[in-house]
Amino acid sequence: MFENLKAELDSIMARDPAARSRMEVYFLYSGFKAVRSYRKANWFFRHNMKFIARMISQRARHTTGIEIHPGAKIGKGLFIDHGMGVVIGETTEIGDNCTIYQGVTLGGTGKDHGKRHPTLGDNVLVGAGAKVLGPFRVGNNARIAAGAVVLTEVPDNATAVGVPAKVVRLNGEKVDPPYESLDQIHYADPVADHLSQLEEQIEGLKVAIEVFENGAGI
Ligand SMILES: CC(C)(COP(=O)(O)OP(=O)(O)OC[C@H]1O[C@@H](n2cnc3c(N)ncnc32)[C@H](O)[C@@H]1OP(=O)(O)O)[C@@H](O)C(=O)NCCC(=O)NCCS
Repeated sequence: MFENLKAELDSIMARDPAARSRMEVYFLYSGFKAVRSYRKANWFFRHNMKFIARMISQRARHTTGIEIHPGAKIGKGLFIDHGMGVVIGETTEIGDNCTIYQGVTLGGTGKDHGKRHPTLGDNVLVGAGAKVLGPFRVGNNARIAAGAVVLTEVPDNATAVGVPAKVVRLNGEKVDPPYESLDQIHYADPVADHLSQLEEQIEGLKVAIEVFENGAGI
């Protein structure tokens, strides 16, 4: 238990240049308090004591301004910096070593049932005020810019910015033009495009042959 606590404190120290000591983080960081309360609340939630779980999370919300639903699944080393106004929904999943700034919502759009909230991979950064809405995945090492509104999947190692968010960097390279998502259903398929062009040409040729045959009286 103390190993875990030390690891969480160290991971915050490593990511916040303003943190001067573990003691400061332990006693004064609202994000640290909120995550510790979440871990307790999640234990009660998993052991079917949902009322106590909600009570703990609502108390933490009151003192930190950070609302984490006890049903969310959160990995190691989550750092919520500053914290005020953060909301993390019930079916959110967060991998290891993610960083979230103030004003972030990991929420639903109101259109989905069951899994309604996003899944963040490992080492994801979500900038101040960003809203990530819906049951899609934000890949490992992704960076969501401050103020972005993300409505579709973000691949691994991507940076998404703007409203609605578009991927502007992928694996360290600039993406030009930016694209909105990795839509697995409607993505561009160059082979299918080429085939449909060929089909159109064949149809055109058929019409031309017909005209030629009729005109030539054959
Ligand atoms: C997005 C971010 C993580 C940088 O990621 P990155 O992968 O290094 O991306 P870059 O800085 O190369 O920016 C890529 C493009 O997005 C633009 N961009 C960066 N942040 C942006 C934002 N918040 N909104 C809109 N566009 C943004 C850049 O201008 C750049 O545009 P260009 O390619 O036309 O020049 C960073 O800008 C950010 O928003 N961090 C959040 C920090 C935060 O919330 N701090 C609060 C502390 S209290």
